[in-house]
Amino acid sequence: MTTAHATRFQLDLRHRPRRLRRSPAIRALVRETRLSPENFLYPLFIVEGEGQRREVASMPGVYQLSVDEAIVEARAAKAEGISGVLLFGLPDSKDDVGSAAFDPEAPVQSAVRALKRDVPDLLVVTDVCLCEYTSHGHCGILVDDEIENDATVEQLARAALSHAAAGADIVAPSDMMDGRIGRIREALDGGGFANTAIMSYAAKYCSAFYGPFRDAADSAPAFGDRRSHQMDPANAAEALREVTLDLDEGADIVMVKPALPYLDVIARVKEEFGVPTAAYHVSGEYAMLKAAAAKGWIDEPRAMLETLTSIRRAGADIIITYYARAAARALA
Ligand code: PBG
Repeated sequence: MTTAHATRFQLDLRHRPRRLRRSPAIRALVRETRLSPENFLYPLFIVEGEGQRREVASMPGVYQLSVDEAIVEARAAKAEGISGVLLFGLPDSKDDVGSAAFDPEAPVQSAVRALKRDVPDLLVVTDVCLCEYTSHGHCGILVDDEIENDATVEQLARAALSHAAAGADIVAPSDMMDGRIGRIREALDGGGFANTAIMSYAAKYCSAFYGPFRDAADSAPAFGDRRSHQMDPANAAEALREVTLDLDEGADIVMVKPALPYLDVIARVKEEFGVPTAAYHVSGEYAMLKAAAAKGWIDEPRAMLETLTSIRRAGADIIITYYARAAARALA
């Protein structure tokens, strides 16, 4: 037996990282990531009628709103410092090709006009997809139960053009059809809307976390799923390829969706391309926090801010979140 093992570990105290964690002031001084309501886009679900404000069962605090109520909500969001709203529409009537998506009198187009008139400094972004407008709930035109890419892209371009004509600042295609960004850019430019920006849902995964949204937007597919167009959750290199394509076709902002399960993808997209990058903290991510908070299992305000901070830290410039107003108030 040797006694060499008696050598004791010597603490090296030249470095004491705890010095910079001692007070709120010093933590604020060295904080790397800032969260601001200016980073947020706030999703709103627009229904027909007047005086409508119906809470979504699986998303406490989220409402389906008629245009007049959407104005009330948007004014409050603007007063809290939020940059913009992202609009989804729930038309009363649907058909198999999603015609209501480009009806100038449909909920989204009406809401855009009303918001630009009554809350002019608030950015208005519109979701462009057919799933809320088709009777079968799929994101496009079906031929033999499969989504026909190119015919769908034409419908999407018409929808985007109608949103721009209503006054949308940014259109946001969420359908994941091939080539739609280029076609939408062409339609916007041809229609005299060269200044309407495109925020592409570039890397949108086929996710279980969209479940509550499909209640909110009444857009669940009547059969099958969205695996033929939304991305496989296992793929990250493919996300970079999707972003490359959308940027080549003219996207101004690219989005990764959902957010928390894909922080690595957000980080890689921001690092690789350095373009304005959005992340969508989706309905299921919101619902999980709400459910745990309702059970008293987590501290909701802290979990909310920690979650949103992590999305910013990963590299997102823009966060789309149902927590936008609550977070803005917590940050005030
Ligand atoms: C429309 C669309 C969806 C979401 C945003 N746009 C649903 C889907 O792809 O099924 C999901 C948003 C959320 O879950 O909060 N295609």
